[in-house]
Amino acid sequence: MTVTAVILAAGQGTRMRSALPKVLHKVAGRSLVQYSLDAVAQLGDTTPVLVVGHAAEAVRAAVGDTARYVVQAEQLGTGHAVRMAGPLLKGKSDLVVVIYADMPLLSSDVLQRLVDQQRANDGPITMLTVEVDNPRGFGRIVRAAGGSVQAIVEEAQCTPEQLAIRELNVGVYCFDGDWLWEALERVPLSPKGEYYLTDTVGLATKSGLAVQAIMMDDPADAMGINTRVHLAEAEAIMRARTNQIWMESGITMPDPNTVYIEQGVVIGQDTIIMPNTHLHGATQIGQNCIIGPNSIIDDCRIGNGCRVLSSMLEKAIMDDNADIGPFGRLRKGAHLGEGVHMGNFGEVKDSYLAPGVKMGHFSYIGNADIGEDVNIGAGTITCNYDGKNKYPTEIGAGTFIGSDTMLVAPLKIGKNVITGAGAVVKNDVQDNEVVAGVPARPIKKKREEID
Ligand code: UD1
Ligand code: CA
Repeated sequence: MTVTAVILAAGQGTRMRSALPKVLHKVAGRSLVQYSLDAVAQLGDTTPVLVVGHAAEAVRAAVGDTARYVVQAEQLGTGHAVRMAGPLLKGKSDLVVVIYADMPLLSSDVLQRLVDQQRANDGPITMLTVEVDNPRGFGRIVRAAGGSVQAIVEEAQCTPEQLAIRELNVGVYCFDGDWLWEALERVPLSPKGEYYLTDTVGLATKSGLAVQAIMMDDPADAMGINTRVHLAEAEAIMRARTNQIWMESGITMPDPNTVYIEQGVVIGQDTIIMPNTHLHGATQIGQNCIIGPNSIIDDCRIGNGCRVLSSMLEKAIMDDNADIGPFGRLRKGAHLGEGVHMGNFGEVKDSYLAPGVKMGHFSYIGNADIGEDVNIGAGTITCNYDGKNKYPTEIGAGTFIGSDTMLVAPLKIGKNVITGAGAVVKNDVQDNEVVAGVPARPIKKKREEID
């Protein structure tokens, strides 16, 4: 059986008060329309159809070829919007699932249940409903004496009795395809001058055809986004759910309200995520770490027992028991080996710091390979860029780089070297040498004599 999703995204979204189309606004880093595409992705093997209208080009450009497009030039109602997909789908899809592009909490599970139930339904429609304490704004579900769905009545058309009905139309349906396209031609113009998709329910029941409904467990899942306040509410719900799952799996969060973890992040047991911490992309964090407060970690791999305090890390690696911060920065290609200590105001990019390296105070290390147990003094800079090209720096194990050393790359410094405070090192340095001055020259003393 072919199942195709039709996603409505033609509305203007006036209440967002935005130059950006509503469905391109983001919740937890993903656009609303992306959530809708994700939710229907597993339903069938046909490409979903996106009904676009307002800012159609911007939506199309953002979504690309993961959808097929039909344009609803004038927004004449939800029934009219679905009808736009008819020419594409008539005779080509046994079942048609209709959702809106502004419901980021809708799960693929509930859509799968909807489709499964419609497969078993002799009638042409299965729909989602919710029950709430204070119904407002949504279409009311009118049930027949036997309990089956009889009609959906839009709020503006409700009698006082109908206004009190607490079961509401979510706006998500699974239709028998052949029946849908034919029925949409019979939908009358509403008093508001629109063609309501909801009127198909009345058309079915009047012909004696069964309309079934699945009531959703949590009304929050049916939330539609109309304003930026809704956007923040949806984000808070998602964040709370994600963080609850992490806490249940053994992660401590003193304040989960300020922890932002994207899908795709992995965290090991007994790690503590402190307040105001953002974990993004494909970040992996090991066990027994303390991460945050005030840290942003994007696409990083962090081992066990690491400490990240008030720091920003992107596309970097920290091996077990390494620590950084406060106010450290790891950029693309930074790799701190086991037990590396990186204190405040350090920046590392495209460099490997071998186990035991200490870099306690403000320094910049770029395009460098630093040997075991090297001490990088305060204010050390790899001068790796001449305005055109980047050059490498290599430092051997056990070397002591004095405070405020400028390492002018390309440069090779041997093992157990000492550089004097304020040295500007332009030439390679042999093992065990001591260099000082501007430019740095070897001075007589060998390292053993100083030690
Ligand atoms: C609709 C339902 C209502 C339900 C509610 C749930 C109808 C007539 N009513 O009401 O029963 O409780 O959703 O949210 O269907 N859209 C288009 N083209 C149009 C009109 C709408 O693409 O011509 C899209 C909008 O972008 C929006 C969605 O369809 O994403 C819903 O449209 P909207 O006008 O907001 O419907 P509601 O009045 O909320
Ligand atoms: Ca709406």
